[in-house]
Amino acid sequence: MSSIKWTQFWKEHGKSTSGHQAQEQVLRTSNKEVVSESVWANTLEYLQNTFEVNDKDVLLDLCCGNGLITQYFSDKCQSVTSVDVTPEFIQQLNALKLPNVEAICTDLLSLDFPKHSFSKIILYAGIQYFSEDEVISLFKKFSHWLKPNGMLFVGDIPDKSKLWDFYNSKEREHFYFERCEERNDVVGTWFEKQWLCKLSEFTGLAEPRAWDQPNEQIYAHFRFDMKAEKK
Ligand SMILES: C[S@@+](CC[C@H](N)C(=O)[O-])C[C@H]1O[C@@H](n2cnc3c(N)ncnc32)[C@H](O)[C@@H]1O
Repeated sequence: MSSIKWTQFWKEHGKSTSGHQAQEQVLRTSNKEVVSESVWANTLEYLQNTFEVNDKDVLLDLCCGNGLITQYFSDKCQSVTSVDVTPEFIQQLNALKLPNVEAICTDLLSLDFPKHSFSKIILYAGIQYFSEDEVISLFKKFSHWLKPNGMLFVGDIPDKSKLWDFYNSKEREHFYFERCEERNDVVGTWFEKQWLCKLSEFTGLAEPRAWDQPNEQIYAHFRFDMKAEKK
């Protein structure tokens, strides 16, 4: 599916799930069960341990959804700019009236900020909605927007090397190939760790690292996380 089709998907999904449970709205489900509160609490704690948000940070939360991550980080940093294409999600985030959060409803691909605007950028459970060529353009922008010593964290990335751990039965394999023929994979774009690390270096982001998610996370069997620094 192209990123234009994904934005249509999310806008329709945002309308049809208005008023639903927050994790269900952002589709953090497995076998139709939403992520448990304890798994999500552990995930947020892990994000903080890895991303180390502090009170001087000026944070950009991309594909922020209804703000589950924005909310968690907002009282740990100076300010958060949160961006998502789904109007219902941005309205929901605005309704929280978090004093240091600015929420912007737009497509990431049309977003722009001045050089060195942010000390940290997070894109969580969002990269799969972009094609490889779009991700190259996005990383160039991230590198431009980050302040020196700033950090990029990209999380919950579908791992190309684990495709068959996800499509793990003959039935699921058939489903995968049929959807792929229509350029309509249900997950989106799958990435290699090395591809994203090399792209980071290409776009001026140093010390890229990518690693498997801790086992207890909801999608650990097929997703990974990565980070890189602006020197
Ligand atoms: C799986 S949700 C993740 C939300 C949030 N990061 C979280 O982890 O709770 C993916 C989000 O990406 C947003 N999205 C998808 N394509 C986008 C685009 N081109 N520009 C901005 N947001 C986009 C969707 O609207 C959706 O809210």
